[in-house]
Amino acid sequence: MSETKVSPSHSGNDDSETCVRVEGLTKTFNDGAIVAAEDINLDIKNDEFVVFLGPSGCGKTTTLRCISGLEEPDEGQVYINSEDITYAKPKDRDLAFVFQSIALFPHMSVRRNIRFGLDMKSDLPKTEKNERVDEVAEMLGIEEMLDRKPSALSGGQQQRVSLGRAMVMEPAAFLLDEPFSALDANLRDRMRVEVKKLQRELGTAMIFVTHDQEEAMTLGDRIVVMNDGHIYQIGSPSEIYNEPTQLFVAQFIGSPSTNFFECTVRQDGDVITLVSSLFEMTLSVDQTEAASVEGGDRATIGVRPENIHLSDTGSGLFNAEIEVIEHQGDRDVVHFLADSEEYTSLTQQNKLEDRGQTVGVNFDSNDIWIFDEENQRAL
Ligand SMILES: Nc1ncnc2c1ncn2[C@@H]1O[C@H](COP(=O)(O)OP(=O)(O)O)[C@@H](O)[C@H]1O
Ligand SMILES: [Mg+2]
Repeated sequence: MSETKVSPSHSGNDDSETCVRVEGLTKTFNDGAIVAAEDINLDIKNDEFVVFLGPSGCGKTTTLRCISGLEEPDEGQVYINSEDITYAKPKDRDLAFVFQSIALFPHMSVRRNIRFGLDMKSDLPKTEKNERVDEVAEMLGIEEMLDRKPSALSGGQQQRVSLGRAMVMEPAAFLLDEPFSALDANLRDRMRVEVKKLQRELGTAMIFVTHDQEEAMTLGDRIVVMNDGHIYQIGSPSEIYNEPTQLFVAQFIGSPSTNFFECTVRQDGDVITLVSSLFEMTLSVDQTEAASVEGGDRATIGVRPENIHLSDTGSGLFNAEIEVIEHQGDRDVVHFLADSEEYTSLTQQNKLEDRGQTVGVNFDSNDIWIFDEENQRAL
C-alpha cells in the first residue's frame, strides 16, 4: 500500500507502460453510510494480469465498476493510457467487461453474439468484423459453433462466447468479475488455465476479480488483496504468500490458514524474547534488528501450518493433543489443541496416526511473522 500520491504525467515517459491507473478512488453508497472502496491507488501495466482478491463485500466489484464507468467515484481519478476518463461513459473507455452471469442474446447466433460490441461501436467493414470473430473463435476453440444459438452450448462454451465478445473489441484492458464462479470446479480449473494462456497470447492488461485465493494465486502476476473497502497489500503471489505485510493477508491467504499466537515482548538488554501463554521464543539478531519492538509491547506471531512440526516423542516448544487428522492424499492436515485453542500443522502423509496422541509442537523462529497487535501490521 503506497502512501505516496504519484501525480500522473501526461507528457513524461514514466507512464508509457501504465495502462490503467487509479488514484485516490473512493466510492460510497447510501449518502456515505456505506464506504464500498476508500482511497484505492493502483497502477496496472500494459501486459499485466492483476487480480483483485478479498472476501465478499470488500469492494472489488465497486472498484472495477468505477474503472469501467458503470459507477462514478465520489473522489479520485481513473486513467487509461494516461487519459483521465473518470467521468467518461463506459462505451467511450477502451475497456471490455466480462461478468459472472453470462449475458448472451438467446435469439442471436454465436457469431452475432461475439460481433455484438463491434456492431454497436465500430464502423469496420463487415468482412473485417467477421475476420476478427473467426480469429477469436479459433483462439477460444469455438469456431465450429459460430452458427449455433447460445442455448445449444455448454456453460463453459457460453462463457467462452462472452470472452470472445470482449476479445474482438481489442481493448486496452479486460475487466473480468468472477467470470467462472457459476461453473463447476473442473471446468473452472480448465477455464482458468485458458484465460491465463489467452492473456499471455494477447499481451493485454487484465483485471480479474475473485474471492477465491487459489484462483488469485494461479492467475495473477500481481494480486491486490482487499478487505473492508481498502487495499491491504499489492504483490506477486509469492510476496503475498511469503511476506504478508498485514495480519489479515497472512490469515486470508493459504489453506489451511496461518496459526496465530498472541504474545508480550520481553527485552533483556539487546535480546528480545516473545512470550506467549504456551511458549517463549528468542529472536535472532537479524530479526531483532528488523522488528521494531521493545519490552512490554504486544505482538501476534503468525506461523504457516507447513512450518509447524509435530513430534510424537513429545519434545518441542510446547505440548498439544491431536484432535483430528484430515488425510489429503499427498499430505495430512493435523488439527491439534493446546490450552483449548485449535491450531493446524501440515505433515507428510501418515506420519502421525492417533487421535488423542500428545505431541511436541515445534517451529523455527526464522519461520514466523510478527505483527503489531494493535494495527496488525508486520513488524
Ligand atoms: N449499489 C449499491 N448500493 C448500496 N450498497 C452497495 C451497492 N453496491 C455495493 N454496495 C455495498 O458496497 C460494499 C462493497 O460491495 P462490492 O463492491 O460488491 O463487494 P465485492 O465485489 O468485493 O463482493 C458492500 O458492503 C455492498 O453491500
Ligand atoms: Mg463482487
